[in-house]
Amino acid sequence: MQEVRDYIGKHKDRFISELFELLRIPSVSAQPAHKGDVNAAAEWLKKSLDSLKCDKVQIFQTPGNPVLFAEKKAGDGLPTVLVYGHYDVQPPEPLNLWESPPFEPVIKNGKIYARGSCDDKGQLYMHLKAVEVMNQLGGIPCNLKFVIEGEEEVGSVNLEAFVRANRELLSCDIVLVSDTSIVANDIPSITVGLRGLAYMQVELTGPNRDLHSGTYGGAIDNPVNVLCRMIASLHDKDKRITIPGFYDDVRELSTSERTKMQGRPFDKSAYCKELDIADTSGEKGYNEIEWVSIRPTLDVNGIWGGYTGEGAKTVLPSKAFAKISMRLVPDQDPEKITGLFDKHFKSIAPETVKVKVTNLHGGRGAVVPVDSVAYRAAEAALTESFGKAPIPAREGGSIPIVAMFREVLGADTILMGFGLDSDAIHSPNESFGVFNFLKGIETIPGFYRHYSKSVK
Ligand code: BES
Ligand code: MN
Ligand code: MN
Repeated sequence: MQEVRDYIGKHKDRFISELFELLRIPSVSAQPAHKGDVNAAAEWLKKSLDSLKCDKVQIFQTPGNPVLFAEKKAGDGLPTVLVYGHYDVQPPEPLNLWESPPFEPVIKNGKIYARGSCDDKGQLYMHLKAVEVMNQLGGIPCNLKFVIEGEEEVGSVNLEAFVRANRELLSCDIVLVSDTSIVANDIPSITVGLRGLAYMQVELTGPNRDLHSGTYGGAIDNPVNVLCRMIASLHDKDKRITIPGFYDDVRELSTSERTKMQGRPFDKSAYCKELDIADTSGEKGYNEIEWVSIRPTLDVNGIWGGYTGEGAKTVLPSKAFAKISMRLVPDQDPEKITGLFDKHFKSIAPETVKVKVTNLHGGRGAVVPVDSVAYRAAEAALTESFGKAPIPAREGGSIPIVAMFREVLGADTILMGFGLDSDAIHSPNESFGVFNFLKGIETIPGFYRHYSKSVK
């Protein structure tokens, strides 16, 4: 333990400057112009993995972005841990809101600012550095595999086929992922649930062309007005979603499970103050912690149509669009929800508009069992590194591959992330605490040590 801390203390500046190299590569998976950068990030990681003396490091091409695989064997009788992470990042836009350029990492107030610093390059790189630490201090007590993808932020579209085609290569006892958060730096936690996702785009067409809003206004059902009415009707006054059948498969928690969840501290006034809002708002009968974890949602991510440029233009638009996502909870099935949305959305449209609904992507939620050997190993590792036992916490984000690894590989996942909600992932000025980066590197070897001990 102390040896690990000492090694990290001695090499931390180098660890950070290496991470900076990776952060400088703008590997934005959503933007085709960055295809070369995406490949460069994969190549950079390959070199880094090569330097860790892996038995095998390979870049697999897919119809989309490359998948990296690496393997480091420790011994036949030992358990195998599969580490998953992603090297792609969200688009940095809007650029004018960044205080320093998104791909020029800097440290300010103890935090590394850059797109991907927390999600997920910084958290992924903790795992590579943890391997370096273990290599230097007597080796890794488990067999280790890495699978690192470059399409997580666009729905992991090609990963499922890759995993199905390489089940033997990826076979493992447990999957380990650092792509989530802890409650606070003095309240360590392990993520025990993630939400699923169903993401749709809708398009309404009214008249066959844009019209003068004076000449035609009053006689035409404006598709933007119609879309707003339709979207508004998707929640009732209790903020429940009105799509018939939407809640059919929602797993309700017992009173004791709900009480336990409240063990996670929540300061409402600090929460509102940080976001500069007067109040929170959510489904009747639940509270903030539950709204963002165990309850499903429906939200507009973007809406457009008509004239959105400068000044006033008098026009009745022909078309209106929106991107609508639903966060799902166990046991909601994204395909089923997509079907229900499609049917309902078309049924509430007036005959004055034509409706097109497109499914963008989706994925299942996940719950992590807390009574497993691996969970207890994570608990022990965090207790050592933070000096305090971690609490289980469900989170609202989605990592669809967790359910997929369960289904295809038969393996559960330990979600041992080190970010904070305030790291602003996906937003301008994303950051990752230097403390969190180094704490992750310190904790990971502990996981391997405890896990291999208890499995043997
Ligand atoms: N790392 C996040 C998921 C996450 C965020 C988990 C916060 C826990 C807390 C991941 O990179 C992500 O952004 N996932 C997407 C889903 C994907 C299908 C695009 C998300 O949650 O929006
Ligand atoms: Mn992520
Ligand atoms: Mn993300």
